[in-house]
Amino acid sequence: MNTLSFLAQHGNLISVTVAGTGPTVILLHGFPLDHRMWQSQLKSLAKGYQVIAPDLRGFGRSSLSAHSYSIAELADDMELIRQHFASDKQISLVGLSMGGYVAFEYWKRHGQHLSSMILASTKPTADNDAAREARYDMSAKAKKVGGWSAVSAMLEKLLSTTSLAQPSEIADLTTQIMRDCTPDAIAAAQHAMARRQDFTCHLPSIQTPTLVLTGQHDVIAPPDETARWAARMANCQFETIPGAAHLSPLESPVEFNQHVVDFLQSVT
Ligand code: MLT
Repeated sequence: MNTLSFLAQHGNLISVTVAGTGPTVILLHGFPLDHRMWQSQLKSLAKGYQVIAPDLRGFGRSSLSAHSYSIAELADDMELIRQHFASDKQISLVGLSMGGYVAFEYWKRHGQHLSSMILASTKPTADNDAAREARYDMSAKAKKVGGWSAVSAMLEKLLSTTSLAQPSEIADLTTQIMRDCTPDAIAAAQHAMARRQDFTCHLPSIQTPTLVLTGQHDVIAPPDETARWAARMANCQFETIPGAAHLSPLESPVEFNQHVVDFLQSVT
């Protein structure tokens, strides 16, 4: 596994972890997380793919400049990475939750470079006023009392009660990644997500082969809601991962990876 950095807009240095060789698959992490949530996928998918796990602006080892950013700019960061690793080739994007918002934007801005998408535990809708307010509150809280105090309550939505019932590597790793998020990274991401576009009206025109996945116990992207919007996409397969909540790549890596590999093989 290698780590490299790319200079993106406004002096942001984007760190990427790269493993394996083959068709390029970019893994986009959720909030408030970083590339480490893909630890199992970086190992398993690397057997047949060039797997790239970036840290989005401000998270993990990526820097965050003083400029605020949009989800569209994060999609442009991914295009920069594609140009380096896949130059004239198409890529597959795997986006979890906030990573899924970036994948939708990438489809809109750079869809000609996309061979397939895997949208995990995400949604195409924009925030309503209450959700936007909650983001501004979290962002203010992070700056006032610290990142972990602002995001700690999310832990019980990210992981299933089974993962949280006893001390476990998954809960420890998730907690550690969340604790490592800086108040500035939390605030910038919350502002970007609050301003994100609604992609619902685009769903019927997305021709890119897409796999939509969610965890059986995901309360952020519940299976029934997810199945409804997935059914509006032209070329889409929907699967639920039994037993998992929001972070199925960590909680049920074997099932998650199998779905991804089966799907990627079916579309190439
Ligand atoms: C995530 O997991 O990325 C977040 O739940 C996304 C969000 O806050 O909308």
